[in-house]
Amino acid sequence: MTDPLTPVLTADWDQPDIFTLDGYRRAGGWQALPKALGLPREEVITIVKNSGLRGRGGAGFPTGVKWGFLPRGDSKPHYLVVNADESEPGACKDIPLMMATPHTLIEGAAIAAYAIGASHAFIYVRGEVLHVVRRLRHAVQEAYEAGYLGQNILGFGFDLDVIVHAGAGAYICGEETALLDSLEGKRGLPRYKPPFPAVAGVYALPTNVNNVESIASVPSIVLNGADWFASMGTEKSKGCGIFNLSGHVATPGTYEAPLGTTLRELLDLSGGMRGGHRLKFWTAGGSSAGILTDQHLDMPMDFESVAAAGSGLGTRSVQIFDEKTCVVRVVLRWTEFYQHESCGKCTPCREGTFWMVRLLEQLEEGHGNEEDLEKLLDICDNITGRAFCALGDSATPPVTSAVRYFRDEFLQHQKEGGCPFDPAASTAWSET
Ligand SMILES: Cc1cc2nc3c(=O)[nH]c(=O)nc-3n(C[C@H](O)[C@H](O)[C@H](O)COP(=O)(O)O)c2cc1C
Ligand code: SF4
Repeated sequence: MTDPLTPVLTADWDQPDIFTLDGYRRAGGWQALPKALGLPREEVITIVKNSGLRGRGGAGFPTGVKWGFLPRGDSKPHYLVVNADESEPGACKDIPLMMATPHTLIEGAAIAAYAIGASHAFIYVRGEVLHVVRRLRHAVQEAYEAGYLGQNILGFGFDLDVIVHAGAGAYICGEETALLDSLEGKRGLPRYKPPFPAVAGVYALPTNVNNVESIASVPSIVLNGADWFASMGTEKSKGCGIFNLSGHVATPGTYEAPLGTTLRELLDLSGGMRGGHRLKFWTAGGSSAGILTDQHLDMPMDFESVAAAGSGLGTRSVQIFDEKTCVVRVVLRWTEFYQHESCGKCTPCREGTFWMVRLLEQLEEGHGNEEDLEKLLDICDNITGRAFCALGDSATPPVTSAVRYFRDEFLQHQKEGGCPFDPAASTAWSET
């Protein structure tokens, strides 16, 4: 049997010193930068375009196409911003990547900055992960000392400064325009688009914002070629990516596989469901994308197939829940998160998420009836497409998808005068 895993980004994570400059260089690191600097900028963009790499931060926009949006031949400074805010429930790929191989990200950032004509790159890291901030800053320092950053890099006449910026820890600061406001020292609130960051981003200057994994994928693409990357994955979702498995699975963790892999394959790799239990529901792309069930076990996890199933590939945050789990309780927890993280700028999201939590609490405690359930769906309807940014839109799929698949379970709570599930049995450490 061929190995369904395709370790590229994760290939050397078991090397004890891979996070250091020496460890990374021993594993073949920092070889893509001189190759890229020896090519015209346009050619680097073409390689990334031809590879089919699509943004790994959630929306899946083609990375090379995005780089091509920045103006050419203007006299303005350009900026690269790496979005390392990873905060969504279940998302856990960028943080391990930055801890394990920070130099992959920094090398990718240097190549991307060269391609878009930027001489400053910011890595905006979620504030709570101080250990990651420290590791990145140390790696940046090593890269300066080795001549991979700074002035006249490797003698190619290209200058680049990389700044590792710690955010204050807010999910909304992962939304690219809120991130830019936060980076400028303001409160992180989403901006109206257009103008898009490629035209007016940080300091109102042309800016490219990409996810950590998108940028970290670039060195291997430059070294191995666009065709190598495009040979993995599916027709429209090329390459490989990190799938993070959490929840009721025997061996949770990060698994790097081609896009289009199925949950059945990932479960085989991770030892299956925890002892003697069966899959009840799961997410392919984190809570924001909504839930799926065991009927989707063989659905290819690529952008198109997951969207066709009514969900989204998002950040490949695969959260797995077995039959001991109350779906109402899980959705309530997620909704509490969205309510807490709502920035308050627009009414549908600020008020809507508040009322969603109240109604879900009522339903979970067994005091909610069919009318409350309809009211909950009505609120979702009034948020979706009416919120100022995608955080509001992300708050509703968990609820609507859970009601679609488990409507009876919502109402069973009232019939039984409370939650029919034992919450202790659904904990990850439960032995029942
Ligand atoms: C509420 C919210 C949070 C987000 N958080 C992140 C994040 O932590 N990391 C990320 O890369 N993208 C996040 N995004 C998506 C970004 O706005 C943006 O699309 C992404 O950084 C683009 O990078 P990519 O093209 O490489 O995927 C978030 C979007 C929203 C609406
Ligand atoms: S949708 Fe929510 S997070 Fe986005 S602007 Fe409105 S209140 Fe803020």
